[in-house]
Amino acid sequence: MAGRPGRRPLSGQQDDWDDDEPVADTTDVIVDVSDVDGSRAEFFEFTRGGEALQGFVVRHQETLRAYVNRCPHALFTLDFGDRHIHREDGEALVCWSHGAQFRLDDGRCVAGPCRGRALEPLPLERAGGVTRVVITAEPEGWPRQLPPPVPALVDPADNESDGASTDIPVITEKPPQ
Ligand code: FES
Repeated sequence: MAGRPGRRPLSGQQDDWDDDEPVADTTDVIVDVSDVDGSRAEFFEFTRGGEALQGFVVRHQETLRAYVNRCPHALFTLDFGDRHIHREDGEALVCWSHGAQFRLDDGRCVAGPCRGRALEPLPLERAGGVTRVVITAEPEGWPRQLPPPVPALVDPADNESDGASTDIPVITEKPPQ
């Protein structure tokens, strides 16, 4: 199957850039996670180090996770631009270029050419009824080394159904010390 570079311009963003103008790095992105379910991700775009990149938010059980849409095998996007990244049973993510499969909860590759590596996670925050992805620096040593884990966010839809406040971020795991 033919691959395609993951560092391609996204959604015509590059066309609007002036080559002489440095592009500011994105610090965070507000995402609408209301439609994120076991088979559908929410995609977003950002700039880091002058590079146009894409990420996505996926659901794993009651939590949400955000990852950069770059496979640790050859840095291609997982999908072919069609936003299809879930395995048929919804239990894993797939990079369709060479078939790598990733766990939803930590992005770890469990099958395929980059087995043992992992997708780059991004922190999610929830405040004031808004969910945002924090754009952090690329982890040192990635993609050859595992990135440090980041906190997961309980899906606000689950909080609402429980009658809990959605204005307070609910972290299920402590960030690394
Ligand atoms: S780029 Fe080869 S499996 Fe993802």
